[in-house]
Amino acid sequence: MIDQLTISKIFDAAEIVDVVSDFVHLKRRGANYLGLCPFHNEKTPSFTVSPAKGIFKCFGCGKGGNSVNFIMEHEHLTYPEALKYLAKKYNIEIEERELSDDEKKLSSEKESMLIVTKFAAESFAENLMRTDEGVSVGLSYFRERGFNKQIIEDFKLGYSLEERDAFTKHAINKGYKLEFLEKTGLSIVKDNFNFDRFAGRVMFPIFSLAGQVIGFGGRTLKTDKKIAKYLNSPESIIYNKSKVLYGLFQAKNEIIKKEKCYLVEGYTDVLSLHMADIKNVVASSGTSLTEDQIRLIHRFTNDVTILYDGDPAGIKASLRGIDMLLEQGLNVRVLLFPEGEDPDSFSQKHSSSETIKFIDENEQDFISFKAKLLSEEAKNDPIKRSSLISDIVRSISVIDDKIKQSVYIQECGNIMNISETVLYAEVAKITRKKIEDVKRQEQRFAQLGTSQNIPAVPSFVEKIYFEEKELEIIRLLLLYGNLKAVFINSETNENVEVRVADYIIDQLRNDELELKNLLNQKIFSLVEKMIQNEEEISPEFFIQHHDPEISQLSANVCSQKHQLSKIWEKRGAQIVEEAKKLNEILEDLFIKYKLNIVYEAKLKLRNKLKKAQENKDQERITQILNQITQINEVIKKLSGLQGRAIM
Ligand code: CTP
Ligand code: MN
Repeated sequence: MIDQLTISKIFDAAEIVDVVSDFVHLKRRGANYLGLCPFHNEKTPSFTVSPAKGIFKCFGCGKGGNSVNFIMEHEHLTYPEALKYLAKKYNIEIEERELSDDEKKLSSEKESMLIVTKFAAESFAENLMRTDEGVSVGLSYFRERGFNKQIIEDFKLGYSLEERDAFTKHAINKGYKLEFLEKTGLSIVKDNFNFDRFAGRVMFPIFSLAGQVIGFGGRTLKTDKKIAKYLNSPESIIYNKSKVLYGLFQAKNEIIKKEKCYLVEGYTDVLSLHMADIKNVVASSGTSLTEDQIRLIHRFTNDVTILYDGDPAGIKASLRGIDMLLEQGLNVRVLLFPEGEDPDSFSQKHSSSETIKFIDENEQDFISFKAKLLSEEAKNDPIKRSSLISDIVRSISVIDDKIKQSVYIQECGNIMNISETVLYAEVAKITRKKIEDVKRQEQRFAQLGTSQNIPAVPSFVEKIYFEEKELEIIRLLLLYGNLKAVFINSETNENVEVRVADYIIDQLRNDELELKNLLNQKIFSLVEKMIQNEEEISPEFFIQHHDPEISQLSANVCSQKHQLSKIWEKRGAQIVEEAKKLNEILEDLFIKYKLNIVYEAKLKLRNKLKKAQENKDQERITQILNQITQINEVIKKLSGLQGRAIM
């Protein structure tokens, strides 16, 4: 357990820009920083970091929070794990006491699963080296394939015994729970018989970036075509195959050092290249490359070389994945091995220096490679040719560097036999559109400062349904969604015009607030869609909607104030009045809405605190007190603002 003082120290030290910069390339924009969101795929940055407020926020996917939240989200860590991570980064000492038996039981599911996978890896490794069957079957297989002792150790290779429940039995005997054996996929429970997923296979543990074993690939030693050559761990809360690259844990330092990453297809390619002293190599393990995997690579380098076996069909299938690499701003090269060879077989047949030399001399730039590959095929087919051109142009236009771009245009013009002028014009077209997208994004960004005049509700707070406030939000959306309200940006003191709908959407997203009522939700997402499509929002559209629930509610909320109000004769007059002070109305609404939420949350926390005190659960007490402090802070700020806003 970490004490409160240490927690504050960690929070003080973990400056948000510094923490985020380890993972995201940030650029300064006024008082804030902007970058590409690590939590969803995007091409124009909407991930913003405010050093003044100590928070990050993505306007694309809505994720946001403080430094610790960022680490939790990004590294998939629990709260205490994230604190420990940051403490280590900032050299803050944490004194930890032994866990009690109760606490052990409570240790999260994830930790329990990691304990099981760690045990499994050790047990498989032991089988391989120290059992007769392991040595004669598993080890001799690895030896035959040329894997030495060092590589077997570095990658913790192992062997799962042939007997169909040997591992499960062994694990249960050692006190590991069937629940976690099943959740990690190591055991399969069927009709009350438990058996091993990987029985009789050689085992390749898959490591997290932090070096924990999170899953396995197991290769059969049988040649029977009906048996899957590789079996992999099923997806679980610790293993998400689209977010993992095999070998990255062992490769990451070398990738940074060499400023380059080799990408191969299989486990054995990684191992053999390692033995040839090419250690900056990872595998996507049979799946086509995902965006998450690309982001993972991008954290360590800008340069990727893809090593293929020389099979044209395979290459074409992966072109799309390579385009994604380009789009993410990586420099991509490709290398074809001679027909019939893959990186594994080639490097096993040649010396290390020959392999290194072969790669250095034969890797070629991807765009030119693609142009060559496809022009060959499109030679006499005009339709294919034109789609090839637009394809190549798209690839070229994602390159930021103008000089590099013009080199590509020249080269591809030559390869495809097409005039440079045409290519330039096409690239310019795409570039123009991109600039417009960025501009739009920046306008949204300018609004950020304004939305955040009102402090955020801490993300641990459970959001509650307040009917009156939700209806008011819907009313403002429908009546004034398209109008602009003028706010003062609290950081720059400048006036900013913000569309009401944008303001409301941002406010809700900022705090991970969502409308709780299903019908309100429906209307809200309709408005969101209309905004995206740049359609006009009008109360009439909703009042006349074909869904009777929507039309009824819309009619009600749009006339409600009017009926209640005796002051204004006509709805029109009221609207004119309201429209003049939309900024105040909106701020007031959200201040009160948030106050409602945090007051309610505080009440609940008090009750929880009582319970925790009764149970003498010191850790829980500290956590709750910490949360109450945070809430009080927000209440103070909100109340301060309330005085300023109209009633
Ligand atoms: N793969 C898989 N499931 C399969 C086949 C392949 O998950 N049924 C994955 C494995 O990660 C494998 C990679 O795809 O490493 C590449 O497949 P392949 O080229 O067939 O295997 P190799 O790595 O070459 O393995 P080996 O040399 O042992 O045949
Ligand atoms: Mn192979």
